[in-house]
Amino acid sequence: KHNRAKLWEKEMTSNDLIQRLQKVRKSYQSMNTYKVKFQGTINQQHNPHELLCQLKHRVNLTTLKSSDLPDSARFWSQYLPNKDIHEVVGKLRQCAVVSSAGSLKGSRLGQEIDSHDAVLRFNAAPTKEFEIDVGSKTTFRLINSQVVTRVDHHFLENRIYKDMILIMWDPAPYDADIYQIMNRSLSLCSFYHKSQLPLPSNISLSLTRTRWYKKPEFKFFEPYRKYRIANPKQPFYILKPQTLWQLWNIIQENSPELIQPNPPSSGSIGILLMMNICDEVNVYEFLPSLRRTDRCYYFKPYFDSACTFGAYHPLIYEKNVFKKLNLGTKEDVYKKGKVTLSGLRQCLP
Ligand code: C5P
Repeated sequence: KHNRAKLWEKEMTSNDLIQRLQKVRKSYQSMNTYKVKFQGTINQQHNPHELLCQLKHRVNLTTLKSSDLPDSARFWSQYLPNKDIHEVVGKLRQCAVVSSAGSLKGSRLGQEIDSHDAVLRFNAAPTKEFEIDVGSKTTFRLINSQVVTRVDHHFLENRIYKDMILIMWDPAPYDADIYQIMNRSLSLCSFYHKSQLPLPSNISLSLTRTRWYKKPEFKFFEPYRKYRIANPKQPFYILKPQTLWQLWNIIQENSPELIQPNPPSSGSIGILLMMNICDEVNVYEFLPSLRRTDRCYYFKPYFDSACTFGAYHPLIYEKNVFKKLNLGTKEDVYKKGKVTLSGLRQCLP
């Protein structure tokens, strides 16, 4: 009775992609923009609980503090919140993550979404005029550094970024956590090197930051600084850039083939952030429902199947991973594009 072609019935591979997207995947692999050197094993068949624990223990989903960055970054890092996001937000019970997919149009999921204790949305996805389908509550908005920097987003003025917790991410090179010896830390590093002690994580972290803060993907420092000065009371966090590659490694290990060597989409990062904070996370239209469409976004008439299946992002593989963790029913996926995930606290200890 269902149009099975529309459903995410099994683990998707590049063979399920249209030719154009297969080519795009290959070309990103040959470019390898972030100099990814994957050293693990692909196609690991972790069971869902093991996978949950990997996500808990291997992805450090915390936010930057000024002390993580070198003094030379102070002109903007002094505006970072003093506390980590988890210290401020605490624990929440049931959260919703709303993808921006075109298949949310006509879904009438608004009420259900708003009934959650907290709702996370992405980038410029609006609620105004779409309340019936996507709800009106926004607790968190996860944005990429393009949103902050691109003039057409009007980041400083646009109301849709106000009255909520903002979290931004920007990709760093893959090996940015392999420390580079920098002048200011030379003596410390050589001490650890000579004594053959492992480099403490806070030092290696500050070295990482030194490299990334000099060359982020988008130059977000100035707009970040301006936004914080204009809205000092609004929480506005920046994710640690290695987080993206820690998550990417797990997606790669759990995939049957080599995936795009580019950061995971905002979708996966947002889901994992909520799994860190909430006891239960309901995700809407990340795994597509029967409303699946080539329409990219519910809020604008732009059509490209890459939005659902990934071109730059390893999106089919991200979706495979969260499909594996789904505690909900198939019917919920078919009708609502809904996946129910348990929070990472379910992995003990
Ligand atoms: O494009 P943008 O990153 O703002 O969209 C938010 C997230 O929603 C994406 O990162 C992706 O994970 C998800 N999405 C999707 N299918 C679409 C559009 C977006 O899964 N058609």
